[in-house]
Amino acid sequence: MADYPQTGITNRPPEHLILATFRFVHQDAEAARASLRALSGVVERELRSELDRTNPLEAKEIPSEETGELGFEDDYDRAHLTITLGISSSGFEHLGVVEENRPQDLRPIPWEQLGQAPTNPDAGDLVLQICADNLYVCEHVVRRVEEELGHEFSLVATTIGSQRYNSRPGRTSKREGRALIGFLDGTSNLDPRNSPEDAALVFIDPSRVGEYPPNPPTGELPGPSPYGGEGAPGPRFPELHPVPTREPDWAAGGTYMTVRTSTFETNPWDDLSQNAQERSVGRFKVTGASLDLEDKDPLLNDEPKFATEQGNQEVALAAHIRKSNPRGGEEDAKRRIFRRGYPLIAPADGALRRGLVFIAFARTISTQFEFIFRAWIRNPDFPAPGTGEDALLFGTLPEQILGGGYYFVPPLEHKTKPWTWRLPV
Ligand code: HEM
Repeated sequence: MADYPQTGITNRPPEHLILATFRFVHQDAEAARASLRALSGVVERELRSELDRTNPLEAKEIPSEETGELGFEDDYDRAHLTITLGISSSGFEHLGVVEENRPQDLRPIPWEQLGQAPTNPDAGDLVLQICADNLYVCEHVVRRVEEELGHEFSLVATTIGSQRYNSRPGRTSKREGRALIGFLDGTSNLDPRNSPEDAALVFIDPSRVGEYPPNPPTGELPGPSPYGGEGAPGPRFPELHPVPTREPDWAAGGTYMTVRTSTFETNPWDDLSQNAQERSVGRFKVTGASLDLEDKDPLLNDEPKFATEQGNQEVALAAHIRKSNPRGGEEDAKRRIFRRGYPLIAPADGALRRGLVFIAFARTISTQFEFIFRAWIRNPDFPAPGTGEDALLFGTLPEQILGGGYYFVPPLEHKTKPWTWRLPV
């Protein structure tokens, strides 16, 4: 079976994101499938720049089919529009897909286990990740779903993301793009577009499920610790979600998507010393080099010293880059994720909200995002008892969690038709 991933995963991230979640209106499986086919039709017309007609002169007493904000001419400039569909576990339930034919690692995001209380815990049945270099083009997609498929889907939530600053439009450079906290973001990330090895950590190949790293035993890790240098006390792990042992064939080329939307206060962050900020991230603010190297531009992409000298604590054990990727050996390397999020800048009463629409793609949830978050970032006993939680996320930059969810992004039937989502019968 050919496995064609959806296009809005590995392409250059356009300037704007609208992330919209929807719920099926119809409860029975046949009707939900028909709704999804209708959605595929709308997405096809959006991705072909096909607009609806306005009314002829003699029919103006009825509403116009086309809403009109992109004009009325087909073949309009889509500004690199991609529309990526993800389906949550409740979505698969609505579609009537039996347990054994579902993506095996998909389940509702366990907010309680993640230790987070979002303002909107509803992940919906479907998510559309709509990206384009023009926000009107993104808006039109949501508008058309609301207008034409209002009887099929109800909108649950929307979030708008804006791409990081880059000096040349149309380009997203790892050497320039900075998170709203002022640090380069995306330095150490998977590159599934250019590296087949990285792509294998992002897209599902049912014949390679046996390669997934197993969970460590709950409690203390037996034997010498791979972290913190010779003789260092070992980590303790919480009980983790079981690792999938198989995936259905139809899921080949699909991927899991984790969404986590949060805001944070920039005033207290901006008032911290640069040293304190750098210690919590684990990188130099201006050059982006790992804190255990020299503060020099050319060292941006050099591996941190702690990768080969676990005893070196110039990058603190609790620093964000060390908590989220401790580099303790081959198994840790398999837990990496592809981060493709968008900073969030949104109005609020008497304020401007800043945050992050964290979006990650990976071939599993349990051995990647959820492992990173529960076994490492939030685990006070990792990499050694008493280390504490991640010094950025649970120290210098407390977040308010708005929402998010776990989704499965199905592969395509036809490589050049990004609305032909493959689904199980
Ligand atoms: C407000 C939220 C967050 C901010 C501002 C933030 C910021 C950053 C920054 C500045 C870096 C270093 C540059 C880089 O390598 O890209 C980084 C790396 C990373 N972050 Fe976050 N992050 C946030 C949330 C998260 C969350 C929730 C996760 C959960 C898995 C995460 C996982 C990672 C990973 C895996 C790396 C790469 C570490 C490495 O390989 O060195 N981040 N983040």
